[in-house]
Amino acid sequence: MRRMNNMVNTCITLILTSTILLALPLAHSLDQDPTAIQEWFKNLPNMTTKLTHLHFYLHDLLSGSNPTVFRVAQSNITSTSPTAFGFIAMADDLLTTGPEPNSTVLGRAQGVYGSACLEESGLLMTMNFVFTGADYNGSTLSLLGRNAVFQPYREMPIVGGSGVFRMARGVATAKTYDFNLTSGDAVVEYNVMVEHYN
Ligand SMILES: *[C@@H]1O[C@H](CO)[C@@H](O)[C@H](O)[C@H]1NC(C)=O
Ligand SMILES: *[C@@H]1O[C@H](CO)[C@@H](O)[C@H](O)[C@H]1NC(C)=O
Ligand SMILES: *[C@@H]1O[C@H](CO)[C@@H](O)[C@H](O)[C@H]1NC(C)=O
Ligand SMILES: *[C@@H]1O[C@H](CO)[C@@H](O)[C@H](O)[C@H]1NC(C)=O
Ligand SMILES: *[C@@H]1O[C@H](CO)[C@@H](O)[C@H](O)[C@H]1NC(C)=O
Repeated sequence: MRRMNNMVNTCITLILTSTILLALPLAHSLDQDPTAIQEWFKNLPNMTTKLTHLHFYLHDLLSGSNPTVFRVAQSNITSTSPTAFGFIAMADDLLTTGPEPNSTVLGRAQGVYGSACLEESGLLMTMNFVFTGADYNGSTLSLLGRNAVFQPYREMPIVGGSGVFRMARGVATAKTYDFNLTSGDAVVEYNVMVEHYN
């Protein structure tokens, strides 16, 4: 009986060890030191591309007790321009799975945006999506594009990424879910299609 138990224990240990060994290369592929990056690039010809669809809500809060976006600069026509031309804001917006601010947090959208269009509301967006949720923890996606905020859908390029999204490219679509004209607070639905390697 004791012998049997020992055998079972050994088996469990073996299973656990091999699970850890199998998991190691996965964790290893996320190494961000220069040698690991070099190895990753060497292996690039043998890697396959993968398509990932991300869906989340961005909370751009100017008011309330916990604002996440602040104006940092403006031009001398910003206050009289119908499009607030030339204002620049820095944001660290929450990304969540649902439109409610208390839904599961996926990460933050950190970056700079500003009014870059004299004729209509058109923002220049330079944002990093910084993922901290279970799925893409530690990885980022970089967005650079034009956001005509009053259009129903705004298509913006994903120009790169880091971690599991290294060398990624894709397209983000923004759609306003909720916008408070008085406070300027907005909840924006994002769909991101991104091609990356694995
Ligand atoms: C890529 O795959 C080929 C064929 O399986 C193999 O010969 C080669 O060593 C691999 N290259 C790298 C960098 O792993
Ligand atoms: C804004 O600044 C420019 C350059 O300094 C100046 O020529 C222009 O008159 C200013 N415009 C306004 C509306 O103050
Ligand atoms: C989230 O907030 C709503 C009200 O806005 C509330 O009804 C709900 O219970 C909250 N959910 C959690 C998980 O706290
Ligand atoms: C994400 O990674 C950080 C740093 O490695 C860790 O502290 C945190 O617990 C992780 N979060 C999740 C949700 O896995
Ligand atoms: C819009 O913002 C104003 C000012 O912060 C606030 O008083 C009002 O309740 C908000 N409206 C909605 C529908 O949340």
